[in-house]
Parts: sequence; C-alpha cells; structure tokens
Amino acid sequence: MVSAYAPAPVDELLRPYSDELDTGSLAQTIGDYLTGTEKGIQGCYTLLPTPSHMKVGESACDIYFARDLKDDTEWVVKGSLSDQDRFLAMGEAAVYDLAHRPGLDDITVPYTKYGNFLVLNGEDGPFCTSGSSQEFVKNRGALPNPKWSEDDYFGKDRTDFLVRNQVFDWFIGNFDTHHKNFLVGRDGQYHAIDKGQAFRFYGKDELSHTYDTPKVWTPVYNDMWTHYIEGACEVDLDAAEKVITAIEAIPDQEIEEILRPYALEREKSLQAFNSTDSAFVSADDFIDAVIERKNSLRGDFEHFYTEMQQRRAESEKRSDPVSRELIDTGR
Ligand SMILES: Nc1ncnc2c1ncn2[C@@H]1O[C@H](COP(=O)(O)OP(=O)(O)O)[C@@H](O)[C@H]1O
Ligand SMILES: [Mg+2]
Repeated sequence: MVSAYAPAPVDELLRPYSDELDTGSLAQTIGDYLTGTEKGIQGCYTLLPTPSHMKVGESACDIYFARDLKDDTEWVVKGSLSDQDRFLAMGEAAVYDLAHRPGLDDITVPYTKYGNFLVLNGEDGPFCTSGSSQEFVKNRGALPNPKWSEDDYFGKDRTDFLVRNQVFDWFIGNFDTHHKNFLVGRDGQYHAIDKGQAFRFYGKDELSHTYDTPKVWTPVYNDMWTHYIEGACEVDLDAAEKVITAIEAIPDQEIEEILRPYALEREKSLQAFNSTDSAFVSADDFIDAVIERKNSLRGDFEHFYTEMQQRRAESEKRSDPVSRELIDTGR
C-alpha cells in the first residue's frame, strides 16, 4: 500500500526548482546519500505534516517532521540553530549516546543524531539545515499535567520510570523534565525526549524536590516527590538501582569520548555568551565534573532518598491526630 505521504521520486521533487538550483549536483548528492557514499549529510528528508497537537512556533528552533528517503523512517528535526546554539543539538545526540550504554535500557531516549540534513520539499524549495534529528516516536501524546490529572497519576509503572529517569537526568544535569517531554508510545511505553537543555546549570544545580530552573515548567519528578512526601503515592526506591549501577559502570574514557566534541563547542558558545549558568565552562573542567558526578551518583541519591523518607515521616506525624495534639499543646 502506498502511504499518503510517500515521497515523490527525487527528479519530481527537484523539477519545480530546476531554474534556481544546480539540480544536477543536488541529485548527485541525494543519489550518493541513498547508496551510502555521501558523508556530508546525515539525513535526506521529505517533510510530513506537523501533527495537529503541536503548536508551531512554540520552540526556540525550527522543528520539522520528516521522512527519510532512504528507508522511510520518520524523524523530528530540530534545525535552523544559530552558530552559538548548535552545541545544543550536539548535546542531544551525545545524551542519546550516553543513554545507550549497557544496562540503561530503561532510559528510553529515541535515537538522535547530529549533523546536516537535506530537506527536499521546503516551501521555497530544497534546503539544508544543521541540528539534531531524532527518531519519531509514534505516540498517544505526552504525559498529562500532574497538576490537573487523575488521583492515581503516580502509579507504580510511572514512578518506576520516573525514578530511573531522574537518576539519568541528574547525571546529565537536565531539568527540562516537565510532563510534555515524556511521550507515551502507542504501545504504552514511555519515552524521554528533548534533552537540549542537558548540562545547562551543571555544578550550580541541586538534587532536590523543589529545585527548578527559570522558564520551564516544573520537573514531573518534583511533583512525584511532593506526592510521596504527602503520602499520596508510593515510590519504589529500588527501581533506581539498575540505572545507578549502569551509569557507574560507564568507563571515564567513554564519557570523555562521547562528550569531547560537544564540550568544545559548548565551551566556545558559553564564552561567547558570557554565560554563567553552569559552574563549568572549559571543556576539561566540564568533562571532569561529569565524571565526578558519575562517581558520586550513588551517594547523591542515598542522601536524597533519605531526605525524602524523613520528610514523609515528618508529614505523617503532622497529620497524625495524636502527634498533632502534642504539637498543638507544645508537649
Ligand atoms: N522523538 C519524537 N517523537 C515524536 N514527537 C516528538 C519527538 N520529539 C519531539 N516531538 C514533538 O515535538 C515537540 C517539541 O519537541 P521538543 O524536543 O520537546 O522541543 P522544544 O520543547 O524545545 O520545542 C514535543 O513536545 C513533541 O510533541
Ligand atoms: Mg520540549
């Protein structure tokens, strides 16, 4: 069956632009891409209609939904980034690489690549954009907003998923973890998208259920812990163990190899912006800090979970009628 959005043959796609473009060399590039010999572009796409639930213009970059000519796979391309913002796209791809180390199969970041992408049927003809491209997750939408949602929002499958992802997001210093950045796949599996803000506040960030960063919605983890403290949901802390062990097992050298190109680009951009968001600007300091966080991850979470349990116990005491009386009478 031919899909409604099946790409037209390359010649046909290029014909309307043949006056303005060197379509010969473009066709050659596309042909080389299709045979795997072109190394300059990491994807050759035709645009798909933007899903109806998405608000166009909501994002800082241009987002395209696209289908790859080579194998019909579908992608979400974040492109048109300025030179200084390009490191964000490199970060998204590096985070994917980190999330796909052995033992981290519960961290479901879709395949993400960084590079140049050729889009054939733009409004004004074919164009090339650099940025990130992430495999499109066929989904039923994002997690609902916990503030307006059903009472059993934090059931065990969600809390297990969130506990594991919080460990990974703390490792990568990502706090853009509001509900919309978690998609519910058509098969019911959760997926973690949008890691572009990873490492932004590295070294100035805090592992806490109230820590939040400017301009983004509350991390869904914070809502989960607030519910937990109030006794409104259970959280199985053992769910974190496998992820902590898997991150601890990533060799320092692998972290360095994955992060070095991004860290260099990040250093240039932070210097150009005079950014003081993160405590670490130089690539070396930054990579050392990530390795240090890997090594302190277990201790960080032991400390954090103990605090969450203590807060819950205090909150239970406050709402217990006998303790309440003791507090009220000052005894
Ligand atoms: N891999 C993906 N699969 C399906 N939809 C996606 C994917 N990545 C992003 N989207 C959709 O695009 C929207 C914006 O993407 P996102 O990465 O969150 O960028 P930003 O929040 O910076 O605009 C998401 O809320 C989601 O609806
Ligand atoms: Mg987002």
